Amino acid sequence: MPKALVTGITGQDGSYLAELLLARGYEVHGMIRKASTFNTERINHIYQDPHDPAAKLFLHYGDLTNAEQLTHLIYNVRPDEIYHLGALSHVKVSFEIPEYAGDVTGLGTIRILEAVRRSGVRARFYQASSSEMFGSAPPPQSETSAFQPRSPYAIAKVYSYWMTVNYRQAYGLFATNGILFNHESPRRGETFVTRKVTRAVARIRAGEQKKLFLGNLESKRDWGYAPEYVEAMWTMLQRETPDDYVLGTGESHSVRQLVEEAFGYAGLDWHDFVEIDQGYFRPTEVDFLQADASKARRVLGWSPKVTFKELVRIMVDADLQSLGQAPIGEGMRILQDKFGDWHQWHSGVTALLQNNGTHVE
Ligand code: NAP
Ligand code: GDD
Repeated sequence: MPKALVTGITGQDGSYLAELLLARGYEVHGMIRKASTFNTERINHIYQDPHDPAAKLFLHYGDLTNAEQLTHLIYNVRPDEIYHLGALSHVKVSFEIPEYAGDVTGLGTIRILEAVRRSGVRARFYQASSSEMFGSAPPPQSETSAFQPRSPYAIAKVYSYWMTVNYRQAYGLFATNGILFNHESPRRGETFVTRKVTRAVARIRAGEQKKLFLGNLESKRDWGYAPEYVEAMWTMLQRETPDDYVLGTGESHSVRQLVEEAFGYAGLDWHDFVEIDQGYFRPTEVDFLQADASKARRVLGWSPKVTFKELVRIMVDADLQSLGQAPIGEGMRILQDKFGDWHQWHSGVTALLQNNGTHVE
């Protein structure tokens, strides 16, 4: 049974990836942070009591700022594959706590790479690199575009990107960068713009919110559907040789278009609800991200199925459902049409693994 270690397992991508790995027969180890509130909401449904002899998901406390504990974890688990997804991932927040962003999102990566190298564990390594690294480089951005980062977060990711390349070249590690453009889902954190908008639309429709305050409406992003991206992370680690890949849809839209689309789908005029708050603007903005993912298409055979409009519908419907409201319906139909199989294995995994409440041994 192959063994995987996932940092950031409680995040959007970590939760989808854990489901995928369990469905593919992996023993999955996830690192989680100790918090005074529950931070395992996204993985509670796949949690298993470790006393269960059939348990395949194991959680371990740890933090990316703690090198000794990371080394210990990697040495003890001896994973075949490491998916390093943990990070302070919010760009605006990284301007407010830049030193911490560097420590977690930058140095966290070298702590893991060093642990792999020193322990002699021949684990394959996936680094969650980001399209934010391209910053002001002109679109479309591909693996050969220059990095021109515009935030402490992006600069920390550039450091991690090059450390991953360096450990591949210097020590022969199977170390891979996935350079992912924005990817979203109903599990997206509520302070990222897509989820902030779709959640507000649902709450406004339900009469629970009156206004939505946003920042820059003119920046453009290449937004895709997260479950499709974690599939490609796995594929990258199954290749014969390590390499770096851009993942994105190739379609780009402004925040304004996102707002129009989400409110329009729910039959609302966004002008009645959206106000601008300068506090949400960033000191330096990334204006235009659009992926050229032709290498991933050619080499990995990866091409995403969910379009921007479909993504918005999926997310608005999910947010309506989470409030106990009837979904408008198209989002659910899109998921069924495009992921009949995925939904089957997704519910299969969920039914298989009993949710007894998450705790860590
Ligand atoms: P996310 O939902 O914000 O999840 C981040 C994860 O990192 C959470 O599990 C979080 O734990 C964990 N984490 C944060 N600080 C940590 C620390 N000091 N020690 C240990 N764990 C820590 O992010 P995501 O959207 O799933 O993204 C996954 C990765 O891909 C991130 O590295 C992100 O930067 C990168 N990325 C994301 C996108 C995107 O569009 N989603 C695009 C490109 C790259 P808590 O739950 O305890 O906070
Ligand atoms: N978060 C947020 N909140 N963003 C807003 C708001 C708001 O109220 N109003 C406008 N925006 C704009 C931001 O200025 C940015 O241009 C765009 O919406 C997207 O912001 P986010 O959703 O916060 O995502 P991001 O593009 O900055 O970063 C995400 O994608 C990166 C990949 O390109 C994160 O997931 C990063 O971790 C990831 O690397």
